[in-house]
Amino acid sequence: MKLAKGSRVAVLTSGGDAPGMNAALRGVARVGTELGFDVVGVEEGFQGLVEGRFVPVSLRSLDEAARRGGTVLGTARCKVFPTPEGQKRAREQIEANMIRGLVVIGGNGSLTGARTLVGFETSHGPLLVGGVPASIDNDLGCTSMAIGVDTAMNTIVDACDRILDTAAAHRRTFLVEVMGRDCGYLAMTAGIAAGADAVIVPEIGKSEDEIVDQVYRTVERAYAGSDARRRVLVIKAEGVKIDAAKLKERVDALVADRLKDVDSRVTVLGHVVRGGTPTAFDRLLGARLANAAVRAIGDGMSDFMAGWYGPGMKTPPCNYDPYVVLPNLGDVLTETQNLMRGESMIAQWRKRVYQEVESILNR
Ligand code: F6P
Repeated sequence: MKLAKGSRVAVLTSGGDAPGMNAALRGVARVGTELGFDVVGVEEGFQGLVEGRFVPVSLRSLDEAARRGGTVLGTARCKVFPTPEGQKRAREQIEANMIRGLVVIGGNGSLTGARTLVGFETSHGPLLVGGVPASIDNDLGCTSMAIGVDTAMNTIVDACDRILDTAAAHRRTFLVEVMGRDCGYLAMTAGIAAGADAVIVPEIGKSEDEIVDQVYRTVERAYAGSDARRRVLVIKAEGVKIDAAKLKERVDALVADRLKDVDSRVTVLGHVVRGGTPTAFDRLLGARLANAAVRAIGDGMSDFMAGWYGPGMKTPPCNYDPYVVLPNLGDVLTETQNLMRGESMIAQWRKRVYQEVESILNR
């Protein structure tokens, strides 16, 4: 059944912030208002939901915010919400504030939280819950892109371009560590775009010794021979469980024995990768996923995520946007697990590409 005009739809951002979240908030607010809903924001994700921190949304200020990174509503990794007490308090707040629709913008943990509210019957009718994928890690199933990935990739490429300038000037080797949690997607895509000599990702499953050997061989190739370029860029995903400083130390030890005048440095980009002005793509992705999510809730749908269409997807595109799918939230969480365990079709394709790329980059 369609959601009646005047119904209250809440929106929150949760988990690690991602550039483009504000654009998604703007999309929810603008489309929701256009459809006749009373759109309210929830401060600091599920923490604000538990504490009943609902705030009016201002279309004017969201227009400004959409150009910026972070999230104007704030975000949190909430410890209380998953507990029985947290769930109870959140449901009481939803009831007391007459919320009928909820849009959750975030990553895996946030969508897991959203799923727990599916099926909640308020005294005004069922709560309709929709998710919008936002995480720089691109580790979610049922969406080929999450909000924030494109900006993060551009930020890494920009940082690597700068690092390569100084690497070339000093003929140095740089080990650059980038975020991505347990997923190597950001490291690999940014590495290819930046022209890295090697990219180390967790999906390949190399041992520490194998990684040291790979980096050493990359350095050797770059410094030996008359046509050698004598500078190296290695990108390591944070999910690879060898500390960047330790990797440098071990490679340096091998280099000291066999190569002359090779100097190395480590740069951990850390949270720099998560901030900054969202790219046009991330703003548009945020707007389009938000548009489909609010329209679906308006049409009475619940228990779904608005994902960006891609290969191997079982759900066909939705009627609101030919690039947006609306898979069931449970399927999204299962597919995410499969992706991270390396079992999904996309995970296997990514792994094959990562293996192929290793020798292509190191020439
Ligand atoms: O999930 C996004 C992410 O930035 C990961 O890439 C990273 O591992 C993690 O969050 C960092 O979390 P926090 O900001 O809580 O340190």
